[in-house]
Amino acid sequence: MRTKMVAGNWKMNKTLQEGVALVDELKEQLKGIEPKCEVVIATPFIHLATVAQMIEGTCIRLAAENCADKASGAYTGEVSAAMVRSTGAQYCIIGHSERRQYYHEDYDILREKVQLALANGLKPIFCIGEVKEEREANIHEQVVKDQLEGSLFNLSAEEFGKITLAYEPVWAIGTGLTATPQQAQAMHAYIRKTVAEKYGKQVADDTTILYGGSCNAKNAAELFSNPDVDGGLIGGASLKAPDFATIIAAR
Ligand code: PGA
Repeated sequence: MRTKMVAGNWKMNKTLQEGVALVDELKEQLKGIEPKCEVVIATPFIHLATVAQMIEGTCIRLAAENCADKASGAYTGEVSAAMVRSTGAQYCIIGHSERRQYYHEDYDILREKVQLALANGLKPIFCIGEVKEEREANIHEQVVKDQLEGSLFNLSAEEFGKITLAYEPVWAIGTGLTATPQQAQAMHAYIRKTVAEKYGKQVADDTTILYGGSCNAKNAAELFSNPDVDGGLIGGASLKAPDFATIIAAR
């Protein structure tokens, strides 16, 4: 049985104090719920060490939103996978479309990041997804396959087993335009088939594939009801504790 997961991605939101308040609120919201899935919050680097202490003994797990593509040294402003791990975070989002688009992270850079995350005991949440023009041109499956082959398919089956995938159609991120449950299911099934062709059916069946892109308290249950949608990567709605708790309860 593969892990079900709801992960929040705060992006570049919340000061340290605001982040602490949000975690307190989320802990309160989750008191009554016995989540049936892994609950993860991905915060900016500056929150990690503080939040790690706050969530000790709770069901909440912690992720960074990024890590460097270099191990250590003279890379001013960068934060390494080892540093992230030393805060207590267990996961790291890698390959988010905003990193690909605004910071020009290509397949090779992302491959390095994945390797470093794994080498330092972090589990990557690896994002893939097509832009609007690619879907309109009906090449969305090929785009996602290229992203997998370009940055992940160099991994051994054992290493790949530590990866959580997040399918995030770029046209759905922060736009309010959610993929339909049918679109999400079709792509998730395609991704699982592609993983099976590379690593075999067992690895594919065990791979957690999240949906991300305007997933919210209203549409989460329907998206999660699809057999290949194992949970969600939640941006905007993860910044409101009651909404995020509703999404967790929907999984
Ligand atoms: P959104 O973002 O839920 O605000 O669309 C999702 C993401 O980018 O991970």
